[in-house]
Amino acid sequence: MRIILCGFGVVGQSLVKLFDSRAEDLYAKYGVKPRVVGVFDSKGSAVDSSGLEFNKLVEVKKKFGTVKNYANTKNSMTGIEILKNVEADVLIETTASNYKDAEPGMTHITTAMKKGMHVISVNKGPLALAFPSLMELATYNQVMFKFSGTVGGGTPILDYAKNSLSGERITSFAGILNGTTNYILTNMATGLSFDEALKDAKDKGYVEADESLDLDGLDAAAKLVILANWIMGMKVTLPDINCTGIRKVTTDDIKKAEKNNCSVKLIASCNKDLKVSPIEVSNEDPLCVNGTLNAIAFTSEHSGTQTIIGRGAGGMETASSILRDLLDIRKEIART
Ligand SMILES: NC(=O)c1ccc[n+]([C@@H]2O[C@H](COP(=O)([O-])OP(=O)(O)OC[C@H]3O[C@@H](n4cnc5c(N)ncnc54)[C@H](OP(=O)(O)O)[C@@H]3O)[C@@H](O)[C@H]2O)c1
Repeated sequence: MRIILCGFGVVGQSLVKLFDSRAEDLYAKYGVKPRVVGVFDSKGSAVDSSGLEFNKLVEVKKKFGTVKNYANTKNSMTGIEILKNVEADVLIETTASNYKDAEPGMTHITTAMKKGMHVISVNKGPLALAFPSLMELATYNQVMFKFSGTVGGGTPILDYAKNSLSGERITSFAGILNGTTNYILTNMATGLSFDEALKDAKDKGYVEADESLDLDGLDAAAKLVILANWIMGMKVTLPDINCTGIRKVTTDDIKKAEKNNCSVKLIASCNKDLKVSPIEVSNEDPLCVNGTLNAIAFTSEHSGTQTIIGRGAGGMETASSILRDLLDIRKEIART
């Protein structure tokens, strides 16, 4: 399968490492040979229609800070030029999530769909701001649009709710969808102040470059939008979410929760309304996970409530979700 990869940061590099380490097994088990024919980061690109070398891409990025130096040419194509001119089957979008205008991911995705390419995105920005219209565009252009890694990293939350509970009617769900805020709140429960816990999370590299995405609940709200559209069939975008982050949570709030045998957690919920806010959760509730873990509880009409717990982020975990999407696309193409 010919692939164009947008963005070559943590996830993009993990993905080509995964392709490299699984090459034989992917071919033997699924008949899939991922061929990355174009890749670009913010500074330039590399293109080879016969397939770029995975190890060399990672080495070049490490040495020069960009994939542009992969070949000894002076000029490299822009991302849009690649999308318009290089023949490929699938676009994998891994540029940074942006909740103001969803760029550059939005243009990458729409350009690829209009060209008839299937799209896999781990970038949440375009989905958070325009989920319904992107689904329409995919349908109109008869391409597949997959985004397993946008919620739960490698934990197959979207697939579970959509496929394992198929035939059921999910009536509500609630979850801890942002590992960074969960880490901060967990540390506050051990006695750290908000500022101390935030500093520790920053030191460990858990906090987004724009800390507001984590602390003000935007990342969790974006995931809630994706879940609400995909699982509940709603047509909503980010402004429809009633969103409060964790900046105002105090150590007193945490102590008060403890007295009730509860912990304060940033919960994204879809019940009567769509909401992200810090609330008390019983310590006995399976949803009450600690550290950077994510958890989500789906309540359905006949099967009761089921909770899925897993690591919500990480380069390799997210890359594995991209691979899952890619194999789904391959299977679907083979069927039609
Ligand atoms: N990391 C995770 O665990 C995780 C989990 C789930 C979802 N995600 C999502 O996956 C995406 C990638 O995450 P990441 O951790 O890999 O981020 P990252 O390390 O910051 O990588 C982002 C990549 O996007 C590139 N980029 C930025 N602006 C660009 C532009 N205008 N044109 C082309 N490339 C551009 C960057 O280029 P440079 O290299 O030149 O800076 C970089 O290669 C994000 O949307 C994130 O929200 C991440």
